[in-house]
Amino acid sequence: MSSALYDSFIADYYDESPVVQKRLQDVAFYRDAARDYGDPVLELGCGTGRVTMAVAEAGKRITGLELSERMLERAVKKRGGLRVEARERVHLVQGDMAKFDLGERFRLAIIPFRAFQHLLEVRQQMDCLECVRKHLMPKGRLILDVFQTDAERMHDPVHHREMLVSEYKAPDGRQVRITERVAAFHRAEQRNDVEMIFSVVHPGGRKERLVFAWTLRYFFRYEVEHLLVRCGFKVTALYGDFDRTPVRDDSPEMIFVAESLE
Ligand SMILES: C[S@@+](CC[C@H](N)C(=O)[O-])C[C@H]1O[C@@H](n2cnc3c(N)ncnc32)[C@H](O)[C@@H]1O
Repeated sequence: MSSALYDSFIADYYDESPVVQKRLQDVAFYRDAARDYGDPVLELGCGTGRVTMAVAEAGKRITGLELSERMLERAVKKRGGLRVEARERVHLVQGDMAKFDLGERFRLAIIPFRAFQHLLEVRQQMDCLECVRKHLMPKGRLILDVFQTDAERMHDPVHHREMLVSEYKAPDGRQVRITERVAAFHRAEQRNDVEMIFSVVHPGGRKERLVFAWTLRYFFRYEVEHLLVRCGFKVTALYGDFDRTPVRDDSPEMIFVAESLE
């Protein structure tokens, strides 16, 4: 059942990467949503528990579901570092967000940091949303974020070239340079094959090139709205960023807040 994708070196590099480290606003946004809508909270694709632990520390019970064993191991370790009261509020499960049955109902479900974009097929996306609906209490909420698609940028061949994303020195002395390129565009399927390349110089000078290759599914606004309605949700809010500004042409995100119609 394990996801080969994140069961790789990426689980070790995820939290230290500046791409993830500078993403703080979404953590506050989801933590505040848990305060507003209440618990228990279900988080799908919880990864290393970046959002999960913040929600628990804010006093809310949360179940994190994650496909990758190695990401989940990291989350378990992080949970171990929490204060006892917060630790007891975190439940972690290995599972597929498109096919799960936890035998429990939640007040709020969240799918942070574009994890929904790993579901490439419409069938998988609908299975996920239907599973979420079955796990929500009446009038329960679902919040998910995806990036806003810039159609021009999405198909620009310039992105075939490897481009610098960031560079950093890890606490253990590794020098890491992250670059990214699009290996292939699949316009008709709304997918891009992306490679994130980690060029590492270890202390002592050994060099390594690690490639995290994955396919992302990009979405358009009304597609997600239709998908949510088709799966028994009403969209109650849509934001273009985690500061809750509306979606505009240049908004980086599309953050959907939906209410279960059951
Ligand atoms: C970009 S990471 C986001 C992790 C975490 N939500 C965060 O905000 O840091 C996407 C996560 O979704 C997980 N994932 C991908 N497909 C999944 C699936 N079908 N079911 C559960 N988790 C999945 C990946 O293993 C990965 O941990």
